[in-house]
Amino acid sequence: MKRIEGISIENIKEWLEGIDKFNATPEQGAGTTRLVFSPEEIGARDYMKSVMREIGLTVEEDGIGNIFGSLEGTKPELAPVWSGSHIDTVLHAGMFDGMTGIVAAVEALRAIKDSGERPQRTLKAVIFTSEEPTRFKNGCLGSRAMAGELTYEDCERLTDDQGITLAKQMEMLGYRKEDFSKVCKKQGDVHAMVELHIEQSEKLEQKNLQVGIVKAITAYRTMMFHLKGKQDHAGGTMMSIRRDTVCAMAEIISAAERLAKETGRYETVATVGKIDVYPNATNIISGDTSFSLDLREDDREVQMQVLGKILDFAKKVTKERGIQMSYETFYDDLPAIASPHILSVIEDVCEKENVTYQYMRSGAGHDSQLVSRFAPYAMIFIPCREGISHNPAEHAKYEDIVTGTKVLYETLRQLANEEVE
Ligand code: GLV
Ligand code: MN
Ligand code: MN
Repeated sequence: MKRIEGISIENIKEWLEGIDKFNATPEQGAGTTRLVFSPEEIGARDYMKSVMREIGLTVEEDGIGNIFGSLEGTKPELAPVWSGSHIDTVLHAGMFDGMTGIVAAVEALRAIKDSGERPQRTLKAVIFTSEEPTRFKNGCLGSRAMAGELTYEDCERLTDDQGITLAKQMEMLGYRKEDFSKVCKKQGDVHAMVELHIEQSEKLEQKNLQVGIVKAITAYRTMMFHLKGKQDHAGGTMMSIRRDTVCAMAEIISAAERLAKETGRYETVATVGKIDVYPNATNIISGDTSFSLDLREDDREVQMQVLGKILDFAKKVTKERGIQMSYETFYDDLPAIASPHILSVIEDVCEKENVTYQYMRSGAGHDSQLVSRFAPYAMIFIPCREGISHNPAEHAKYEDIVTGTKVLYETLRQLANEEVE
């Protein structure tokens, strides 16, 4: 990379480490936990808003807390170009998933501003509200509302583990119901969205490549299953008469793993990551158990076939065991195909700047997936160590973030100078 030299590794490091100070699990080895609208997450938001203001961006927030830092173009009547990601994390996460994309966007805008050039279109660094589904069980809340796929009634329904609804939490923070309807975007409102993110897989590192150009994000469905059997005594209840929901769950989990593997496709992934066993005691047969299912596939048809098989199996097992089963779907996001035009801009930048790259798909979900419903998008991936993510050991090299940010900078510059819609 020779031509673009204006990206500051010091800013990237300072801002990523600055955000990471807002952490609900600061104990050694516990990683970073920053759930949406927690005191830590609000602290991180305030910190990045002050960074944005310091470098001369105009800061605004919408009715669900999406934050925009704008660098006004010479033709502000044209649709803006967006770049950004999320600042919330899963439980015991690393410090790069999401935050890298925010810091890269802010640094790219700073570098464009300080270069003295003013592109035609306004550029916006965006911090999306709650990409992770950890607190309110639904993910991409900010971008989902922008896409019109999250209504205020949904916000009144979604609750956290303490029983607080998303709507109540927003109200407590001063987000007004009347501003919620203005969050939704329509086609044409945004010229282009480019999100930089760590890869969360190991391909770039293994091939020693600097950048992944993401051409599609996988279909992503999350459900919760509820099993009702009979709570009973672990000593006095014969095996033959039990209605044990934990055993039924164990069978269904094993089947989900087997059925996902049986497609023979690496794109099929099924995960049970959350289990609630009531009352959760060594000597009680549980009669009330819930568990999640996260099922992803690039091919929607294959995803639905696997789901059908898991459901058939679950119905059979619960019937045999005298257990009632119900389930709910929290979200069911279709695959998102990136814009061929933005992909070609990113590829040209990589070619001209001697950045090594490959095209790839994303098995992880991103706000771009929801933004794709109303605007053209593409993503830039950078390597992360051993592909590890959603883990305190998640790590990306600052030099790699700088390279990705240079590609982002030049891509945003070019897109912001495009006149035609
Ligand atoms: C987002 O973090 C995901 O689970 O893909
Ligand atoms: Mn994540
Ligand atoms: Mn992420």
